Amino acid sequence: MTTSPMFHPVARVLHWLMAVMVLAMLFIGAGMVSTLSEKHTWLLAIHKPLGMTVFVLALVRLAFRLTHRAPPLPADLPLWQRFAAHASHWLLYGLMIAMPLIGWGMLSAGGYPVSLGEGVRLPSILPADPVLFAWLRGAHRYLAWLFFLTFLAHMGAALMHGLIRQDGVLRSMTIRRRR
Ligand code: HEM
Repeated sequence: MTTSPMFHPVARVLHWLMAVMVLAMLFIGAGMVSTLSEKHTWLLAIHKPLGMTVFVLALVRLAFRLTHRAPPLPADLPLWQRFAAHASHWLLYGLMIAMPLIGWGMLSAGGYPVSLGEGVRLPSILPADPVLFAWLRGAHRYLAWLFFLTFLAHMGAALMHGLIRQDGVLRSMTIRRRR
């Protein structure tokens, strides 16, 4: 068994905060498109500001990640798992940034107001265009599925490290226990 150093406390707080926010966004999004009741309006009013908060935090987190070294993976980790870990982490960063941008672009292309609450309205980032709207609407849906599957794979890998390999990888993102 090896012990890994910990992620920086800022990285750990952002990680768990954003894990909850992203999971909530995926379920709010799925709930929103499966109802025609007034709950749709209510869920969309949460979805937009929460999604834009994910976007801002993802940029902060990416900047932090690029300027702070992550703890190394265990030396005995097979090459394919090492590759899968890095690839899925960067995919998650990409999706945390792309999903809100696509949501914002989709509403702009549809000619809808991108309001985040009382008196807060974002500018349009794309010209009104029904074809572009339809394309972005599909991209938002299929990338949401990719996001959910990557999220599940990430959780599965974390549990494998924590419960089976017990190699300190999961602990490096949780709370340091006193010996
Ligand atoms: C992490 C960020 C985000 C995630 C994970 C996410 C997730 C989702 C999901 C799962 C859906 C349902 C897709 C479907 O089955 O068709 C959805 C729909 C939608 N999202 Fe997002 N979203 C995010 C950010 C945003 C942002 C920032 C906006 C706008 C500013 C936005 C606007 C919308 C709209 C307008 C819909 C369609 C609502 C409808 O057709 O009734 N999303 N989103």
